[in-house]
Amino acid sequence: MPYKKGDDLRKVYQKAKSENYGFIASNIAEPNILIGLLEGSDRKNSDLVTQLSSSAAEFAGGGDPVAGLKAIGTYIETLSQNYDIGVFLNMDHLKPENMDFIEKCIELGIPSSIMIDASKKSFEENIEISKKVKEIVKEKGKNILIEAELGKIKGVENDVQSSEAFYTDPEEAVEFAKRSKCDLLAISIGTQHGVSKGRNIELRPDIARDVDKKLMENDIDIPLVLHGSSGLLPEQEKEVIKYGICKFNKDTRYQYEYARTASDYYKKHTDSIHPPEGVEDDRAGFFSDTDWSPNKSHFDPRVVSGEIRVRIADVIAELTEHVGSANKSLYK
Ligand code: G3H
Ligand code: 13P
Ligand code: ZN
Repeated sequence: MPYKKGDDLRKVYQKAKSENYGFIASNIAEPNILIGLLEGSDRKNSDLVTQLSSSAAEFAGGGDPVAGLKAIGTYIETLSQNYDIGVFLNMDHLKPENMDFIEKCIELGIPSSIMIDASKKSFEENIEISKKVKEIVKEKGKNILIEAELGKIKGVENDVQSSEAFYTDPEEAVEFAKRSKCDLLAISIGTQHGVSKGRNIELRPDIARDVDKKLMENDIDIPLVLHGSSGLLPEQEKEVIKYGICKFNKDTRYQYEYARTASDYYKKHTDSIHPPEGVEDDRAGFFSDTDWSPNKSHFDPRVVSGEIRVRIADVIAELTEHVGSANKSLYK
């Protein structure tokens, strides 16, 4: 199934919102996590939302974010044809300071959706910037949804001083959505980017409920987005899905699984990679005059990457059950 663009993604979210389930939006920066996500989502018959931040695009492109977007886009487009699910790409946290990159993303038409994150700007500026990005998509005739953010999420946006300003205001959300015409709205209800423990955060599902209620009263039926979702407990996810949250952003969870899987693997096979005590640690010395040699069946990067892919597949498979996107693919 070739990967899909904005109109299809809108249908995927609309169905999820009306039937009370959600999607995990999974950050990627390289192919191993992507392949794990494809495997696990396909196994569970769930459509897949991947996302790429500008710094991940830069990483994937060896310092050139546009090259990174093209490379990851090609990877997704090519590999998704081997799976029977819908696959989408969101550009995550694109900042107004980076408008050239945003315009390039739109012009190339690679993403299914773009998040414009002007949440650090004033309310008025945030509206103007988000609206502008939406207008550029229209002007260029591209099939791309726009996610905007109102409220501030701790972690990346950890310069926020007042906890009052931290949560999204439901009345403001209506004005914001009306005027910006965003297709998805990221709100702040207490989650945090990075390592966070769901049980310790001050989650305010009532804010999601009030935002969704006010929006719906104004005929604005758009999916709500939760950033910083890695640490959420399944029961917290289930609760906020009832209140219009359709997209749960997770990055840190996969980063940890990646590192943990590699760390466990290399710890287990350290004797195949590091020379024992007393043997000279000569990295170029495969042919050195000792009995010990490293074991290629453990240091070939494809071996540890394979373990990572399997683990990521299991993780997303479980997550699709938590948020209810399992067995709901629109394309299978
Ligand atoms: O929400 C932030 C995402 O985890 C992206 O992080 O900019 O380090 O790729 P990054
Ligand atoms: P986490 O740090 O909780 O994984 O959040 C990721 C995110 O919000 C990406 O936009
Ligand atoms: Zn985020």
